This record gives sequence, structure tokens and C-alpha cells, in this order.
Amino acid sequence: MDLSVYERLGGSYTLARVIPHFYVRLLTDSALAGRLRGVDVGRLACRQLEFLGALMGGPPMGRDVDLAGAHRRLGITDGDFDRAVAHLAESLRAHGATAEEAEVVVECVGLFRDQIVSAPVDTA
Ligand code: HEM
Repeated sequence: MDLSVYERLGGSYTLARVIPHFYVRLLTDSALAGRLRGVDVGRLACRQLEFLGALMGGPPMGRDVDLAGAHRRLGITDGDFDRAVAHLAESLRAHGATAEEAEVVVECVGLFRDQIVSAPVDTA
């Protein structure tokens, strides 16, 4: 039986290390850090842990997620989204994911692009 990416990487044990790594990358990326100013990053990281865990084949989330509502006022561009998922892929790779596994996760997250991007044109 094929293991999910979640199981292959070591489940919540590994994801609990991937997510902080991902957030350090986001917060030290000058193109993205501004959008996280004033945000309770600890709480956000917990939500990401649940969301990405479920997306990767882990336990389903016990509640609905309003991605469009959460991101609507943030003005996230397609370029921001691409940078964020590239950081996620790097964090997964740093914790044992193969390039193919990281790509599968990036593709799954990509299904939510329209709910996260609210400013499709980069103005920078
Ligand atoms: C990689 C693609 C992304 C995914 C999968 C994602 C996922 C999520 C999730 C699951 C939530 C929680 C929603 C809820 O609880 O209902 C959230 C909220 C949020 N996200 Fe994202 N997000 C992404 C990209 C970004 C980017 C690029 C930024 C800004 C740099 C961002 C900033 C935020 C903020 C500020 C919130 C709200 C936090 C709060 O309510 O305290 N997200 N995101």
C-alpha cells in the first residue's frame, strides 16, 4: 500500500518541524514579511499545521477553513503565492521530502490559489 506524503515524512512529528522552518523563511523574506506584520504567527502556524497535514493525507481538519475570508484583505499577489509555496517546498525538502513529493504538495496547495490570491497583478 502506498503511504501518503504525510505518513512517509513522519506525520505530525515531522510536520511540526516543517511548519516553523516554513515560517522562518516567510518572515525573513522581505517580499512577504510585511504582510505578516501584526499577525499572531503562532496561531497561524497551528492552522497551517492542521491544513497542510490534512492536505498531505493526514487527519482531516475538524472544522471549516475560510481561506478566501482569511486572505481577502491581505492583497496577496500571484508572485507572493509563488514565493510562499517555493518556501514550503524548500522546508519539506529540508525535512526529507523528495523533489517529487514536495511538488505534489505544491500542486495540491495550488488548487487553493484563487482563494488566497486577492491582488493578481504584481505592482512592485
Ligand atoms: C502557500 C499558500 C498559503 C496557504 C496554504 C495558506 C493557508 C492559510 C490558512 C489555512 C489560514 C487559516 C485560515 C482559517 O483559519 O480559516 C491562513 C490564514 C492567513 N494567512 Fe495564509 N496561506 C497561504 C499563503 C499566505 C501568504 C503568502 C500570506 C502572507 C504573506 C498569508 C497570510 C495569512 C494571514 C495573515 C492569515 C490570517 C491569520 C489570522 O487570522 O490571524 N498566507 N492561511
